[in-house]
Amino acid sequence: GDPRLEAISAAIRVVPDFPKKGIMFQDITTLLLDHKAFKHTIDIFVDRYKDMQISVVAGVEARGFMFGPSIALAIGAKFIPLRKPGKLPGKVISESYELEYGHDRLEMHIGAVEPRERVIIIDDLVATGGTLSAAINLLESQEAEVVECACVIGLPEVKGQHKLKGKPLYLLVEPSGLDEFC
Ligand code: PRP
Ligand code: MG
Repeated sequence: GDPRLEAISAAIRVVPDFPKKGIMFQDITTLLLDHKAFKHTIDIFVDRYKDMQISVVAGVEARGFMFGPSIALAIGAKFIPLRKPGKLPGKVISESYELEYGHDRLEMHIGAVEPRERVIIIDDLVATGGTLSAAINLLESQEAEVVECACVIGLPEVKGQHKLKGKPLYLLVEPSGLDEFC
């Protein structure tokens, strides 16, 4: 395979039992500390999306903010932050999603995206797909075209998930450490 993917995988630290027992936390802060592996990550996404007429990169707070803007700048797209509730000052639309206990919400500024704009949604990791499905719903409610979702880490099984409404999901590496991950 691509040796860059091995470098990326090796740079992600796995922290057992964080934030709670039984979870193998996939820590991308160590990837950000490794200039080469971080650059490979951005380069791979940029190569994939640079000729796909993407005008919007939407990133999911918080860890999607660590990758999305670099990709947006490199492909000549704008960046839209999809934020946790109550953070955006303008008029927003909201979308709820399920957590293990309870639910959370993502918000986007109305007017940030125009109808028919071609969008990619970026996050660090997909687990249940709940976060990405909320992100898809936000963009589609504004009649944007979600071309693909992209994450650094995820299980290939998630790709077929009904939750993502059939949108393609592009993943770089699989989580290490087995069991539940986050
Ligand atoms: C984590 C991760 C993804 C999401 C994936 O974010 O960064 O955004 O969970 O989980 P899912 O596929 O089951 O929805 P989290 O909400 O923990 O917060 P953070 O990014 O702000 O740290
Ligand atoms: Mg997140």
